[in-house]
Amino acid sequence: MNIILFGAPGAGKGTQAALIANEFSWQHVSTGDILRSAVASKSPLGVKVGSILDAGGLVDDELMFNLLRQRLSQPDCQNGFILDGFPRTLQQAKTLLTMGFDFSCVLYLEVEQEAIIQRLSNRRIHVASGRVYHTVYNPPKNEGLDDITHEPLIRRKDDYPERIRDRFQVFNESTFPVLDYLASQIEQKTIHSTGLAAEEIFLTIKEYLDLKNK
Ligand code: AP5
Ligand code: MG
Repeated sequence: MNIILFGAPGAGKGTQAALIANEFSWQHVSTGDILRSAVASKSPLGVKVGSILDAGGLVDDELMFNLLRQRLSQPDCQNGFILDGFPRTLQQAKTLLTMGFDFSCVLYLEVEQEAIIQRLSNRRIHVASGRVYHTVYNPPKNEGLDDITHEPLIRRKDDYPERIRDRFQVFNESTFPVLDYLASQIEQKTIHSTGLAAEEIFLTIKEYLDLKNK
């Protein structure tokens, strides 16, 4: 089964995608993680997009689409994938739906934006794997270190208050309107997430996906 996970910056897409991937053995495909790995490895792509990511802007549609096409054609995506961070523009959405994949649903993680600032300011990530932590809500076993590799965690450069505000603005102006278009083409399920713990949100998602997956 292929699904699209949709939501504002910090809505919990990466957190829920990891839980869904673990439960259903689908591949978690995060365009943000792919771009951050490219930046960390200083590849030509990484050099090109680093400043855009840091500023919270959008990487151009054609580049994103080529990147996604490459990723989704790999064998590990053939049994199902969870798309996290794509599409972000109407053009990306329209092109995605011409690729021939069957999408079972769009899961929209709805969270009040005031609740998100605090989440993002205290987020820490392991760049190589994309694993996500929160210093209070989801702390690593050893402070500052990834649970699996024990490598250092970092704070994303776009997780400082001014950048977070810029990302919300980009989301509200360019990405949120895409939801209407997606909903006109694919079944949409809104997951009300404000004030709920990640595990509670996941239970709702699991119940819904279990029914669809039967
Ligand atoms: P991307 O990495 O996709 O960033 P984003 O959409 O801004 O989303 P985040 O990763 O910040 O948040 P999330 O929803 O995954 O939340 P998380 O689970 O981590 O993209 C980054 C950049 O790449 C973009 O700005 C753009 O420049 C570029 N880019 C990517 N895709 C692109 C595209 N298609 N086109 C153009 N450019 C593109 O959770 C956040 C925190 O909250 C964590 O600390 C977590 O532990 C905590 N948390 C999670 N759930 C809960 C809960 N229920 N309660 C309390 N805390 C929680
Ligand atoms: Mg994420």
